[in-house]
Amino acid sequence: MTINRRRVLIQGAAAAGFALLPGFEAAASQKPAVAKADLERAVSLSDYEAIARRRIERVAWEYISGAAADEITLRWNREALDHLMLDPRVLRDVSRVDTRTKVLGLELPYPVFLAPTALHKLAHPEGELATVTGAGKARAPMVLSTMSSTKLEDIAAKGKTPLWFQLYVQKDKGFTEQLVHRAEAAGYRALVVTVDTPVEGIRNRQDRAHFHLPPGVALENLRDLPTGGKWSPGTEKEVFANILPDRLTWKDIEWLQSLTKLPVLLKGVLNAEDADMAVRAGVAGILVSNHGARNLDTVPPTITALPRITDKVAGRIAVLMDGGVRRGTDVLKALALGANAVLIGRPVFWGLAADGAEGVANILNILRHEFEVAMVLTGRRTVAEIDRSVIWR
Ligand SMILES: Cc1cc2nc3c(=O)[nH]c(=O)nc-3n(C[C@H](O)[C@H](O)[C@H](O)COP(=O)(O)O)c2cc1C
Repeated sequence: MTINRRRVLIQGAAAAGFALLPGFEAAASQKPAVAKADLERAVSLSDYEAIARRRIERVAWEYISGAAADEITLRWNREALDHLMLDPRVLRDVSRVDTRTKVLGLELPYPVFLAPTALHKLAHPEGELATVTGAGKARAPMVLSTMSSTKLEDIAAKGKTPLWFQLYVQKDKGFTEQLVHRAEAAGYRALVVTVDTPVEGIRNRQDRAHFHLPPGVALENLRDLPTGGKWSPGTEKEVFANILPDRLTWKDIEWLQSLTKLPVLLKGVLNAEDADMAVRAGVAGILVSNHGARNLDTVPPTITALPRITDKVAGRIAVLMDGGVRRGTDVLKALALGANAVLIGRPVFWGLAADGAEGVANILNILRHEFEVAMVLTGRRTVAEIDRSVIWR
């Protein structure tokens, strides 16, 4: 693919505000509609963050942006990426740069996925439907969360991009089995089992803001559970306490694999021994993730954990990484340290809140363009040429 130097973003940024979320009217009506000029000036993911911050109701903002306890790992996720320096090579013919890659049989134009995140209707009334439309426009695969605010079948019906399903194994095994079969029947192509959340982390910021679900927003995939997909009464903690199995072990991973023909990936691995156990358990891949720093504070940033894991795995299964990816150079660094692809979490909310599906497509296109430029400027023409020599040592 020849590098396209024209601006990749701002594709007819349909300006102005959108219909307001029920229950959020009071706050949102005081928020300024997004001016077209603001969107045209938004050239980086952090520009979208600034717009989203003005658009998203404060309680929801604290939920989305917040992390665990003192948010030290949240800071480290970024700092560790920032501190890695690049080692560019010159005088290589970079007139043709190819960002394409393959992950578990998926042909990707560039190695970025949408991470599974709960409740997109907090950022936009169309929620995950807008997200999947934006992902399709930017040709990025999406991992849908068990805790989505739109039914998994509705996303699959609308989605024009490859979909994976993120599974929070439920205490109710029968319900878990149903969820897996629903995802498989709807056409999801892989199962991403989140293994780092036996309980919810200490979420001080979200608790201080008294986060709750606004009326009209529910966990649509969980409607048949006793909680009826509601976050009420009370807080997310009760929902988590009802659904998350704190007894999940490697035996359950075997059981899950026996339920489905889909490839199974484990999300939330930071330890190299666990990565090795994952290989031996026969899973198709792992996601090196600290859950966007939302679970256990002071665990290492993912980019620091990554090389130990890719050394241990040694190419036997796919390894993806998320946590703080905000620039094309971050994508390059993760690939240099052995990741096959990266995922982005919070930036999807920023794109959604700023400009719905168009905003999601734009943040992905920005990242893609930045990644392409980073490859050109470091003299790496293909993804295969991105190895550890990209990092300054
Ligand atoms: C608001 C929010 C909701 C999330 N919900 C889920 C979820 O339902 N399941 C899951 O496995 N991870 C969830 N995550 C974690 C993301 O999948 C991902 O690991 C993380 O956001 C990546 O870091 P980043 O936000 O810095 O890009 C959530 C993260 C955020 C910010």
